[in-house]
This record gives sequence, C-alpha cells and structure tokens, in this order.
Amino acid sequence: MACSDSDYAYLRGLVLEQSANRIDPSRNALFDTRLAPIARLSGAANLPDFVSMLKAGRPAHLHRAVAEAMTVNETSFFRDITTFDMLREVILPELIERGMARRQLRIWSAASSTGQEAYSLAMLITEHFPELAQWDVKIIGTDISRHVVDYAQRGRYRRLEVNRGLPARMLLKYMVREGEEWEVVPRIRSMCEFRYANLCTPMPQLPTFDLVMLRNVLLYFSQHDRRTLFSEIYRKMVPGGYLVLGNAEQAEDSTNLFEVEFAANCYFYRPVNGS
Ligand SMILES: C[S@@+](CC[C@H](N)C(=O)[O-])C[C@H]1O[C@@H](n2cnc3c(N)ncnc32)[C@H](O)[C@@H]1O
Repeated sequence: MACSDSDYAYLRGLVLEQSANRIDPSRNALFDTRLAPIARLSGAANLPDFVSMLKAGRPAHLHRAVAEAMTVNETSFFRDITTFDMLREVILPELIERGMARRQLRIWSAASSTGQEAYSLAMLITEHFPELAQWDVKIIGTDISRHVVDYAQRGRYRRLEVNRGLPARMLLKYMVREGEEWEVVPRIRSMCEFRYANLCTPMPQLPTFDLVMLRNVLLYFSQHDRRTLFSEIYRKMVPGGYLVLGNAEQAEDSTNLFEVEFAANCYFYRPVNGS
C-alpha cells in the first residue's frame, strides 16, 4: 500500500529535521524500498501505518532510524585519486612540517560512510610517511548512520569493495584475506576510529583537527545548513589546518571563514586568520 502525498511530505520533513538531508519529491519511491524493513520490524502493517506510528511520536528512535535509512553511503577506497595525490605531495608534508613540535596529527573523515576514506588515509600515511610511525596519528571517521559506523569499525570488505580503488599492491600489504572478505591489518586499524555524529548538531565530543575531509555530503544540505556546518568545522580546526571538499563542492557561502589555498581537482581550504 503506497503512501499519500502528505505522508511523503511528512517523511521528507522528518529526514530534513533529523539529518538536514533534502530529499526531492521525485525520489519518493525510495521511501517505499528503504523503509519497508524498518516498518516490518516495528510491527506496522504497511508504510502508511508506519507513518501513523511516526506521527504519533513513538518510539522516538524510529525517527532517527528513518533518517539513517535514507542516507546515501556511496564511497570507495582512494576516491578521486587526484585528491590523495595532492595530499601526499603538498598537504601532508606541510602539516608534518608544522606539527614537528607536537608530533601529533588529527584527521577527520567527516561523513565517513563505510570507512574506505579513513583507511585510505591511514594507508597513504603508512606508505609514504614512515617517520609518522613515532607520532600520535589519529584518523576519526564520523557518520550519522550507525549501520555504516559499525561496518567501518569492523574493517572487513567484500571483493567488490576492495576492487574499487584499492591498488593490488596496497591490498596485499594492508589487508588480509578472511574467507570471502578482506580485513584491514591491525596496524592500519589502530590509526582509525569511527563514531556516530550528526554534522548538523554541535559535536563537543570531537577534538580539533589538522585536516578535515568533508566530501560528497554537502550536496544533500540546504545553503543554510551548509553555512551552519562550515561554522562548526571552522571551530574544530587548528590554525593552518586544511579542509578538503569533494570534486563538485565549494564553500562559496562561507568565504568569511575559509579561503581557497589550492584548487586542483577539488578545493583545499584554510581557515581564515589561521597562519
Ligand atoms: C555519499 S557518502 C560520502 C562518503 C565519503 N565522504 C566519500 O566521499 O566517499 C555520504 C555520507 O554522509 C553521511 N551523512 C549524511 N548526512 C549526514 C549528517 N547530517 N551527519 C553525518 N553524516 C551524514 C551519510 O550517512 C553517508 O554515509
């Protein structure tokens, strides 16, 4: 049984409120497929029945579950390789030079999905900057979907996933085969941790970062929510740190906070007033 237009409008509003993700009405059918399993588990007879449960506000955790189910988790190892080339050649050497005294590096994979970005960064650092083995290096991946946070934490990937972007040499060096899956080796896993965090709410539990990767998530947010997020990220960055966006993304509405330092395949920003 299909939802009415007003039910879909309610669901779109709920997702917007919970995760700031905008869902175009042309994608209403996605609610049917993504929410069917949650509706069944909740004991609803069909989707309209489930929407009635949501509207009645019980139980509240279902509201979050709806937003999580509607996220787009597309990602891959070394996604947009030119970005990683730039990190290796320019950004990381500079951050290392600046961090010599502290011997500490904090990287945030914001909207980390199933963890490939964070693990790619850990592999890149281990492969090209062996001197950092003596440093305190932490890559923190955060996401609003608990399902992908657990998946990332587990550090196990299917063949199809490792075949997307991970060079064979890196696969053999940094993963071990476990039956049909590949598991990230302890040395790389120990550099990464994954946590639940909603980018649209304050995140006091996170430290400040030298490098923030915020890729392929801004496109789901309204201009207002993007602005709020940039302010929050600004507060979470050390002076002289770098913010990296996805290929098709810009911080055009927050130029008072961030300035373009390098424009390659994507933009690399610095917080304004950082030195
Ligand atoms: C398309 S993936 C991008 C993953 C990775 N950054 C990349 O570029 O490959 C977008 C991710 O953003 C997450 N996301 C969406 N809205 C979010 C929010 N409000 N807070 C935190 N994560 C969010 C989704 O759960 C999803 O895993």
